[in-house]
Amino acid sequence: MIITSKNWHRFFFFTLGIGFIWMLTFSWAWSQTYVSGKVITSDGMVVASGAVALEKGELHNNAFLSGGGINTDGTFKIPLPSGGPWGLHVYSEKYIYFPLQLQITEGIDNEIPVILPVDGNPGDDPHISNIRFLKMTDQVFRINMQVDDPNNNLGPQMLAIDTKRFKSYRLVPKTGDLKDKKADFPTGEYTSPFIPVALNGEDLKDWIFAVADHQCSNGAVYNGLGQSVFKPLLPHAEKLTCEIPGIWKSNFEKVYNFSQTAPGKLSGEQFEGNLIIDQINQKAEKVFLDIRFKGEKGKAELQMLCKENSVVMKGTFNLPGRSGKWLFTKLKNAKVAKTGQNIFLANCAACHYPDRKDTKVGPGLVGLFTHPKLPDSGLPVNENNVRERIINGGKKMPPFKHLKDEQISAIIDYLKTL
Ligand code: HEC
Repeated sequence: MIITSKNWHRFFFFTLGIGFIWMLTFSWAWSQTYVSGKVITSDGMVVASGAVALEKGELHNNAFLSGGGINTDGTFKIPLPSGGPWGLHVYSEKYIYFPLQLQITEGIDNEIPVILPVDGNPGDDPHISNIRFLKMTDQVFRINMQVDDPNNNLGPQMLAIDTKRFKSYRLVPKTGDLKDKKADFPTGEYTSPFIPVALNGEDLKDWIFAVADHQCSNGAVYNGLGQSVFKPLLPHAEKLTCEIPGIWKSNFEKVYNFSQTAPGKLSGEQFEGNLIIDQINQKAEKVFLDIRFKGEKGKAELQMLCKENSVVMKGTFNLPGRSGKWLFTKLKNAKVAKTGQNIFLANCAACHYPDRKDTKVGPGLVGLFTHPKLPDSGLPVNENNVRERIINGGKKMPPFKHLKDEQISAIIDYLKTL
């Protein structure tokens, strides 16, 4: 179409109309991606302050991008611009910082268990001072700060976090960044990249700062006024269930996630460690583990003991040439698996009721898998036909080719529960 002064308004409304239809068709599919969690500690407390920073991609690649603060109830919730691999770092004074590789699912709230180990030696923690905000232009500033470390093994994480806009920035030595990020970083002055924000009107308390050394020690977290944000920890009040699924800590200060993968089937994994759990069997209060440690196979026999305020498993492990006592303390109950439901809420709920039969935009899906035929096409109800419909859409239902196989499987598992 040639746009002349006579028909411009037609073009304008045409474009507006297209935009509106586009919004109607696609906005339901867009749902914000989040990472969230509650930060508890290996000595059974909930932190009430601190910082979270996220690198895009692989853990320790130092491509810091997103971040936020920890609320006074220990929770955090940070919007992310995309799914896929992200590296998570969590910092709170008096605890060792927590790095974890994540695989983030787009369009849902990804809940992550975070357990901070106690910092047994806070005396060697790095220290921030003299934080300065420098106005470069009306719309740009940068930050300088001094970083010191008693045991001189600073790492590459010198972070400024904008808790209002959920962004994180890495500061580098004023003398230049080091190529080898595993090398010890110098003490002295650090400087941020240019930050595209107007300094005028900025509340410096919305900015927080965390630094870490190569032993994962981080000192106090400061705000932009140079004040420590530390708040006393709270007791962890969750009533623990007398069952294996959940987050546990061992007497070797390792954190484990035990989960139920199918009815009667359990699996377990160690965070940040090289112990592998091949199998878990439970007979009443007895728990048997098949384990592998550095390539060697072993076994453990534990007894589950549940009291009002403590749930533990204690017993012994046996590896070739090594055996000992093993004590697991439960820290947190398992989260109810909600992934399929979350993906449904993000992608399908705009058009389908999960709990009713009547039509919203498409047919209600309550009891879908208990019926012989699909409501629209009349095809038999089975996984293949439902999967095909989700991937290719229908007359008025859009295709969901962008969902991963396992996301579609999760939706189907959820549909079976309706
Ligand atoms: C924009 C609205 C819309 C969205 C979003 C949507 N659907 Fe539909 N769906 C429909 C409509 C309308 C129909 C009826 C058939 C048609 O017109 O395509 C339908 C039909 C269905 C059917 C019945 C198919 C049959 O063969 O009878 C199933 C199952 C279904 N949708 C599942 C889903 C799932 C799962 C999602 C999310 C991944 C989803 N739908 C997202 C609108 C939607």
